[in-house]
Amino acid sequence: MTDDRTLVLLKPDAVSRGLTGLILARYEAKGLRIVALRQRMVTPDLAAKHYEEHHGRPYYDTLVEFITSGPVVSLVLEGERAIEVVRLMNGSTDAGVAAPGTIRGDYSLYYQRNIVHASDSPENAAREIALWFQPDEVAPRAST
Ligand code: CDP
Ligand code: MG
Repeated sequence: MTDDRTLVLLKPDAVSRGLTGLILARYEAKGLRIVALRQRMVTPDLAAKHYEEHHGRPYYDTLVEFITSGPVVSLVLEGERAIEVVRLMNGSTDAGVAAPGTIRGDYSLYYQRNIVHASDSPENAAREIALWFQPDEVAPRAST
């Protein structure tokens, strides 16, 4: 079976609090491989495309304001069942009540400023990886 690839963001709260290395280490320790990695400011256009399914929701404007407020680390993680595994590691969306031991549960009290994003399906993973990275920024799959 081909390993999954998933798009992960360390949101501005994670980066500004100096949690980048600590969070990356957790994914690596789990056995997931980083196959693309970059830090950038997010343009309003990229934010709108990334969060297009949330257009019109009451929290949309503050969400875009938050994600464009400071540097974001974007990465692609690869591994068996990576999409499901990373969502489990990240924990519930509302970080205040996310289970301790999850990344959100361990590092945030808030619903919106919840440290990390991860793709929720193979379709969204493919869409989001193509949105955040050029093909030549992502490591080719190892030949077996
Ligand atoms: O990030 P996740 O897939 O767990 O949640 P989502 O429902 O796809 O929402 C995307 C992001 O919007 C969340 O991670 C929150 O930062 C934010 N959000 C919010 O501020 N208020 C809500 N009621 C729902 C989501
Ligand atoms: Mg989501």
